Amino acid sequence: MLRLCIWLVLCLLSGGALIFHALQQQHEQLSIDFRILHREITVKLSQHETILALLSINSDPAAIQQQFPQILTWKPLTRTEAEHALLPAGQATYWLRSQHVGLLIDLNKLLLELPQIQNFHHVSLNWQNTPLIELGGAWQTDYWQWHKKLTNTLQPFELVASGIPNWTRLPWLLLLLSALTWAVIVYFVSQYHLHKRQRNIAVLREHFAELTRLNAMGEITTGIVHELNQPLTAILSYNQAALRLLDQQQLDQIPALLDAAVIQIKRISSLLLQFRQKLAHQPIEWQTVNLTKIWQRVTLLLENEIHNGKVKIINRLPETLPNLLTEPVWIEQILHNIVINAIQAQQHHLAGYSWVAIDATASEQGITLRITDGGPGLSEQALQQVFMPFFTTRSEGLGLGMALTETLVQRLYGSIKVENIAGQGACFTLFFPFNAQRA
Ligand SMILES: Nc1ncnc2c1ncn2[C@@H]1O[C@H](COP(=O)(O)OP(=O)(O)O)[C@@H](O)[C@H]1O
Ligand SMILES: [Mg+2]
Repeated sequence: MLRLCIWLVLCLLSGGALIFHALQQQHEQLSIDFRILHREITVKLSQHETILALLSINSDPAAIQQQFPQILTWKPLTRTEAEHALLPAGQATYWLRSQHVGLLIDLNKLLLELPQIQNFHHVSLNWQNTPLIELGGAWQTDYWQWHKKLTNTLQPFELVASGIPNWTRLPWLLLLLSALTWAVIVYFVSQYHLHKRQRNIAVLREHFAELTRLNAMGEITTGIVHELNQPLTAILSYNQAALRLLDQQQLDQIPALLDAAVIQIKRISSLLLQFRQKLAHQPIEWQTVNLTKIWQRVTLLLENEIHNGKVKIINRLPETLPNLLTEPVWIEQILHNIVINAIQAQQHHLAGYSWVAIDATASEQGITLRITDGGPGLSEQALQQVFMPFFTTRSEGLGLGMALTETLVQRLYGSIKVENIAGQGACFTLFFPFNAQRA
């Protein structure tokens, strides 16, 4: 839809510019035609005035009419008739008179000889504000108009012409080509953006999966405690046996038991060391973080899940929310874990009923974030144990997400709690202090 709108706007803009340019060219051409017309008519009218001066009763009418077909006839005049130089005679004709002779001139014949006339919608020659001849339709509403006085002394007419745009002569093919070009450009640009976005998401996901694996190891440590049970039990039984043998004064067998116990203890120690090195010393990279940006990244990261579950994401983070000095990747992971649980809790909802909302308030001490959803909320047991490693109610769940989340929040010197909101779903409230780095 957006692509269509952009294409339409581009077509309108380029089409408008092309049409404007074409109309300007038409107007320019007609202006040139008008100037030619004006000059041609001036020349012809001056010829009348010359003929009038030179004509005598003996001149040959056939020869004159052959050269000037617009001169219909002439006649000698008496003194009283010669008062006005010009006398309209109806039907686009007029008498042009000198003291002795009058010429009857037909403007129809005069004008129709000029090819430029065809290019105008209307042409008229006015004398004393009344048209002597009018060619073409009504001109008052025409788009383009030209007026110019003729300089002939005896025939001081005004030439008026008007024109209308010739729509068939617009560059339609060019317009079509430009629309097609824009369609191709918009298509390729949008494809490019789509691919770039998909590439970004893929990179983010890869990065995130790596991080999740690393952090999950922290929680798996809890599972490792289970593994330590076995060597601890062994050590216990070696020591108990050694004590028994001591009581029975059978000292020669004791060193072997103690050696076995030492081997088990060393194994435990190296196991623990290995895990400690991997987990505990991951340094925090403190950075100034804009929570709105992190939230956008999280929703981008979960785009597929949000889209497939038709989940509405409601961002109520205030624009004035201050930045936080913290570890951005961890915050991202914390929000990710909470949001994915909220989406999973609503996966059986009908389309349009799932939502996840975030809002925040800032105090002097820090920022409080609240993430709520439209799911069923947590069961009584889940409310108690949600942050315990391996607690899950989902068949495919691991039960590590919330435990990891709590660990990360605590390592950032923050806090997390969960409650149900009547009529809605779960609500996770997180608090991150401003002075965490100094803590
Ligand atoms: N938004 C929520 N709505 C309902 N239950 C939730 C929500 N978040 C977490 N839970 C409960 O907490 C359990 C533990 O969550 P988590 O640690 O992410 O493990 P899991 O891998 O099972 O999702 C979930 O199985 C679920 O029962
Ligand atoms: Mg989870």
